[in-house]
This record gives sequence, structure tokens and C-alpha cells, in this order.
Amino acid sequence: MKEKTLYVCGECGYETPRWMGKCPQCGSWNTLVEEERVLSKPAHPGTKAVPIGSVRAEAQARLSTGIGELDRVLGGGLVKGMVVLLGGDPGIGKSTLLLEAADRLSAFGPVLYVSGEESNSQIKLRADRLNVKGEHLFLYTETSAEEAIERAKECKAQVLIVDSIQTMETEAAESAAGSVSQVRAATALFTRFAKDTGTIVWIVGHVTKDGAIAGPRVLEHIVDTVLYFEGDRHEGLRLLRAVKNRFGSTDELGVFEMCETGMREVSDPASLFVSGRNEQGTAITCVLEGSRPLLCEIQSLLCPSAFQSPRRTAVGLDVNRLNVLLAVLERKARLKVSDKDVYCALAGNLRVVDRGADLATAMCIASSVLEKPLPEKTVLIGEVGLTGEIRPASQLDTRIKEAVRLGYTTVLLPARGKVSDHPCRLVRVGDISEAIRALFME
Ligand SMILES: Nc1ncnc2c1ncn2[C@@H]1O[C@H](COP(=O)(O)OP(=O)(O)O)[C@@H](O)[C@H]1O
Ligand SMILES: [Mg+2]
Repeated sequence: MKEKTLYVCGECGYETPRWMGKCPQCGSWNTLVEEERVLSKPAHPGTKAVPIGSVRAEAQARLSTGIGELDRVLGGGLVKGMVVLLGGDPGIGKSTLLLEAADRLSAFGPVLYVSGEESNSQIKLRADRLNVKGEHLFLYTETSAEEAIERAKECKAQVLIVDSIQTMETEAAESAAGSVSQVRAATALFTRFAKDTGTIVWIVGHVTKDGAIAGPRVLEHIVDTVLYFEGDRHEGLRLLRAVKNRFGSTDELGVFEMCETGMREVSDPASLFVSGRNEQGTAITCVLEGSRPLLCEIQSLLCPSAFQSPRRTAVGLDVNRLNVLLAVLERKARLKVSDKDVYCALAGNLRVVDRGADLATAMCIASSVLEKPLPEKTVLIGEVGLTGEIRPASQLDTRIKEAVRLGYTTVLLPARGKVSDHPCRLVRVGDISEAIRALFME
């Protein structure tokens, strides 16, 4: 085994043999820390290569967490021996969600909740507030990863929860708890335990802005599944997303509302991202998050620019996409936007990459320029090409159906693209000028 010194960014996991003040990958300052690393791993004795024909394919049984929104993001539930990392800002609700999942999971077998952050009585206080009282749910306050694993073996835990990985220490690494090498070594230890015994391991990782503590991103490649919990700490809405999933897709979005009594599942989040007011500079679209159609409101604000190159700000949308749409509006629809600062945002902390939101983005800007609101109860769906052409977005029928379900009466659609009959007015538009005429000139 060969040892070598590496510098690793605590923010994004970038590795370099030289120390640098600024991480070239994520741009953070002073986040590179030294890490002693064993480069080669000992071989696993006793395993042989086998012909693929002799391998039995078994669909892995899924264990439900008892929380539908969590199961959805996991791709249908947990799988034996799975290691899941739950990342998120401190205070966002990771411990709350996992304590609730632990409670439901303990109906199927022992669950051990290891906390290096809170005392048993603090956890009990939260458990009482959440009405958690699982008979087979065990608490253990510890910061040694080896000890945590011993306890998990003792109580034959089917599920082990580690809260948080930044508080765990292992003898396998020498540096302080929270350092890149400690969190990686501890995660590797828990992962080996999961694979050897079939225990499901949940690891909590705080997202940190402080380079002294390693963030969950440095662990993403070790674990099977990575979920991030997001939302505004001062507002109740929480979004759960998978960024990596060895056992399912990463498109699904879980929606929760954090309440006094715990995480309330929002299994019908359809209208959460729509304000309900039809104002100038806003437009409604229907995007797809995985298999789930979501109505969302795009807002824009335009101001005369005081700068040589006007400002373009996008929250929840891709700013490059916004720039393209502005150029198309200027050149193809003759709307003057090049002398204005443009701010564009999605309501409710949503982030959208779906190009089907193009038409609504362009039209909410048009509404600002023309100083006219869009017609009431209208949803806009379509991609916008560089020529100004409106192109079909995927699964038009699914999106229209959702709009109708929520009481919208008009849907602006691309001229091309087959759709079924729907109980609403379907307005087909071929290009962006036609869309402007249909919305603002009639
Ligand atoms: N009595 C309470 N009623 C409602 N919400 C609470 C209460 N106590 C704590 N919280 C909320 O729980 C949050 C902490 O959640 P927690 O699951 O511990 O987050 P994390 O584990 O991600 O740091 C706090 O930000 C607070 O908003
Ligand atoms: Mg916590």
C-alpha cells in the first residue's frame, strides 16, 4: 500500500497534489485541506469471476420508509445494504425527517439512531413532539463510528441512522472529526458494514460554508444514493431531490411542509408554486419534475438599465436560457429588451431546467415590456427555438391534463405536436410573434 498526500476541497471534493488558496472546480476559498490517503485497497479474497449466464437476476425487494414522498425520491423505497446520504443546510429538517422515517421503519425490524449531535433526551423531546414512539427504535449517543457499528450489530439493526457524519470519528483516520479524511473514512466504514451485513445505512451530512468542516459532496461517490433537502429555513416548504441514485431515477421531487408536528407530506403540490394573482409580468407554465407535472409561476421585472451591459438575473431558472429568450424576443418579436435590466424568478424555491417553460418565460417578459397582464386562467407550454419557433415539449397531454385539473381554461401550445381532446381552450401558436398576438392583442 502506498501513501500519498493530497489536498481535497471540503466543499466539492476536488483533489490536487498541490495546495491552492482557491478551489479551481467550485471556486471556494480556503477549502483545500491536506488528506493522507491510502491509494490501493486490499483485494477481497475468495471472490471469483462468474459467467453472466449463471447469475440469477432478482428484483430487489423494496422496504417502504412509510413516507410516500421519501419513497418516491428513493425510487420506490429502500434496498437491503443501501447507503443513503441525506444532505442539507443545518436546521432544514434532516433529523426530523429521519426520526419520522426511523419510527415507521422500526415496524419492520430494529432501527438504531446514532446521534453525535444531540443527547438522548433532546432526541426524545423531538420524538415526543413528532409523536414518535417506535418500540424497536433505539437511540445511541456516540461519535465513534466503530462503536456505532458495534451497537448496530448488537441490536441486529436493520436500519442504522448516523446523524451527522461530521461528528463521527474513526480510528482509520488520524485527523480531527469533520475533516475530509475523517468523514470519508467513517463513511467508508459504514458502507462496508452495510454491504457486509445488508443493513441499510442513512448518513446525515450538513452542507457547510465553512472550509474547516467537510461537506457532503466529498462523500457522494462513496454512497449509493444522495438526497438533498432544500428550502427556505424561514418558510415551511421543503423539497427533497435525489442527485445520485444507484437504485432508481434521479428525476423525482419530494415535497414536504415542515410543521410543529413534523414533516407533512405534500402529495399534491400542484398549486404550491403559483400565487393565484394574475399580475403583469407573470406567466404560468406546467413543468415536469420526474413523472410529476407541476404548475409554476414565472415572474419578471424589467427596469431601464444604468449599465453598458444590462443585468440579467435568474432565480430558479437557467440564466443562459434567459439570455437566449431575451435575444429571441428582441430579434424575432421586435420587443426592446436590450436596454433593460431583467430579473426573472420562479415562485416557491423551485428550480426548473425543463425547456417546456421557455414559452412562459418569454411571455412573462413580453407582459412586462408591453405592460399588460396575460389573460386569466392561462397556462403556457412550449420550447422556444432560436428562430422564434415554438416547439413541442415532452408529454403535452400530461401537462394539459394537470392544468385543466387545477381549473385553468386556456392552454397556449405549439402549433405542432399531437394532443388528445381536453375540456379547455387550446390555442396553437407557431412562433413567438403569434404568441404575443394571441395573448396581448386580441
Ligand atoms: N417546537 C418546534 N416546533 C416547530 N418547529 C421546530 C420546533 N423545534 C424545532 N423546530 C424546527 O426544527 C428545525 C430543526 O430541524 P432538524 O431536523 O433538527 O434539522 P437538521 O437536522 O437538518 O439540522 C428548526 O430549524 C426549527 O425550525
Ligand atoms: Mg439534525
